Amino acid sequence: MGHAKDAPKPQALTATHTPAANPADFVGSEMCDTCHADIAKGFSSNPHSKIASMHGDNGTTCEGCHGAGKAHVESGGDVTKIFRFTKATPKQIDEKCLTCHLGEHASFERSAHDEANVSCLNCHGIHKPEEKAHLLKASQPSLCYGCHTDVKPDFSMPFHHQVDEGSMSCSDCHNPHGTFEKKGLKSAAHQDAVCVKCHTETAGPFVFEHPPVKTEGCTSCHSPHGSPNPRLLTRSNVNSLCLQCHIVSDNFSAPGIPTSHNQAAQYQACTVCHTQVHGSNASVFFLK
Ligand code: HEC
Ligand code: HEC
Ligand code: HEC
Ligand code: HEC
Ligand code: HEC
Ligand code: HEC
Ligand code: HEC
Ligand code: HEC
Ligand code: HEC
Ligand code: HEC
Repeated sequence: MGHAKDAPKPQALTATHTPAANPADFVGSEMCDTCHADIAKGFSSNPHSKIASMHGDNGTTCEGCHGAGKAHVESGGDVTKIFRFTKATPKQIDEKCLTCHLGEHASFERSAHDEANVSCLNCHGIHKPEEKAHLLKASQPSLCYGCHTDVKPDFSMPFHHQVDEGSMSCSDCHNPHGTFEKKGLKSAAHQDAVCVKCHTETAGPFVFEHPPVKTEGCTSCHSPHGSPNPRLLTRSNVNSLCLQCHIVSDNFSAPGIPTSHNQAAQYQACTVCHTQVHGSNASVFFLK
């Protein structure tokens, strides 16, 4: 017998891994191999093969997902006596997978994907994944575009994050398994961590902060996917962007445009002078 007790126990398996079924109902992977040789052959390189070694050499690999197989084997392969993912509901699928993966994907059950009945298997394939890394059904971004046709045009705009070009992924900003933030963002856009992990220079802290950068967040001025405007700005004209909040006669929290700005100056880009629009350590007016 193997040394199950000595086998390393990765975090993924510390949850409610042990199925409720009677241990005597498990037959071991070698048994499955005798009739499902094709699947077994491909499985040795699957990350899930690690499960076998985690149980000494008892090899409960197949049954860790498909459930105890004794009845299925004794009936010579009665398909109703084994858990079939292809016949299961999204909820049943997710429950199965989460018996081991709940630890790392604890937010899945409050994600927009779960709410919309998108299951693990809409994105992952176990036996024949198209992309071996992370066992994905297709590689990003086509995996995501398969359903999110509406966002595809964003990334063909004249200015866009280089997702289609392959230098970054949807999952650099989103966690498809859900987060505590809206839109499955890895961290809130208004806290900016999702953006400033790459754009550190905009993060500050600055002696003189431009409040909307922290309060409304990057997306108050930038379109995160793509934009017809340079610098991914939400407006084609920088001045009209600034004038959303800074108006000549001011009733709002943002200061009005000072009288020292003559009309002509309004037709010059505000950023010609206010160059440090994200914040500055030297100028209260973000001039340098
Ligand atoms: C005695 C031979 C035999 C053994 C041993 C065996 N199976 Fe099967 N299995 C079959 C047959 C026959 C089918 C039906 C094949 C079909 O319909 O294509 C089947 C079907 C299945 C299916 C459903 C396939 C589908 O089309 O949905 C799964 C899942 C499955 N087996 C898993 C297992 C697992 C896991 C083990 C080990 C615990 C195992 N089998 C052991 C013969 C066997
Ligand atoms: C991590 C969970 C997991 C493990 C471990 C696993 N399977 Fe599967 N199995 C699935 C899923 C999910 C499907 C549905 C098709 C897919 O995603 O590849 C499936 C489908 C099948 C099918 C149906 C064939 C088909 O393509 O529809 C058979 C037969 C099968 N598995 C046998 C096995 C055997 C034998 C083992 C052990 C060598 C095994 N499975 C290990 C999750 C698993
Ligand atoms: C019996 C426990 C168990 C079950 C059930 C299980 N997994 Fe896993 N899964 C693991 C282990 C263990 C690993 C390997 C972890 C590692 O490499 O550190 C893993 C790895 C993975 C990976 C990572 C692959 C990579 O390259 O990063 C994916 C994706 C995955 N599982 C998806 C699924 C899906 C989808 C299901 C349901 C069909 C499922 N798992 C069911 C235990 C399980
Ligand atoms: C909407 C698509 C989608 C759904 C639904 C989904 N995943 Fe994933 N999963 C991904 C992508 C994409 C990655 C790769 C992430 C990356 O590159 O950072 C991934 C990675 C993983 C990994 C590797 C560890 C990690 O976090 O990078 C595991 C394990 C995993 N998924 C399990 C699951 C399980 C279990 C479910 C269902 C409860 C599930 N996934 C549902 C798309 C999805
Ligand atoms: C640079 C970071 C970033 C990348 C890369 C990214 N997103 Fe987003 N995405 C965001 C932000 C931020 C929002 C929230 C926008 C808002 O609330 O105004 C968002 C919103 C969304 C939404 C919600 C609907 C909408 O348009 O507001 C979907 C769906 C979405 N993204 C899908 C994707 C897909 C699919 C990819 C890859 C093809 C992707 N995103 C790549 C940052 C990103
Ligand atoms: C099988 C279809 C499907 C796939 C594949 C898919 N999604 Fe989704 N996604 C949905 C549905 C359905 C919703 C919920 C309705 C909506 O917001 O459009 C959703 C919602 C979202 C949202 C909005 C979250 C929110 O809280 O409003 C984001 C962001 C997102 N998906 C990103 C991704 C990314 C990134 C990928 C690829 C890794 C991906 N999706 C793959 C179907 C899918
Ligand atoms: C994974 C790293 C990464 C993340 C996360 C990221 N970006 Fe980017 N961003 C880039 C890269 C790379 C470029 C292209 C730089 C270039 O072409 O010179 C870019 C370009 C930009 C540009 C245009 C810069 C220019 O000089 O034209 C803006 C604006 C921008 N990103 C804003 C954001 C915002 C807002 C977020 C969060 C929603 C974000 N980025 C998240 C990597 C990232
Ligand atoms: C108040 C509006 C506003 C907010 C909020 C804002 N930006 Fe900008 N950003 C701009 C403007 C305007 C430019 C163009 C500056 C220029 O052309 O000189 C710019 C330029 C950029 C650039 C191009 C390089 C540079 O520094 O000029 C990046 C990258 C960028 N912003 C990222 C971000 C990130 C990340 C956030 C959130 C932390 C953010 N921006 C918040 C208005 C804003
Ligand atoms: C989303 C609203 C918003 C946008 C867009 C915006 N600002 Fe601001 N701005 C503010 C707020 C709020 C303050 C801080 C007001 C205060 O501290 O009383 C501020 C402060 C300033 C200050 C410093 C004023 C002082 O007295 O300390 C300058 C200069 C400034 N903004 C310039 C710009 C420029 C240039 C743009 C366009 C690139 C712009 N702002 C876009 C909201 C905005
Ligand atoms: C020619 C350079 C220049 C241009 C262009 C310019 N500014 Fe200014 N701005 C300044 C200077 C210098 C100050 C410092 C206060 C002063 O001298 O009146 C200032 C101050 C400000 C203040 C702070 C007012 C206060 O009293 O707190 C705001 C808000 C502001 N500018 C917004 C804008 C906006 C919005 C635009 C574009 C429509 C713009 N500026 C264009 C040079 C400029």
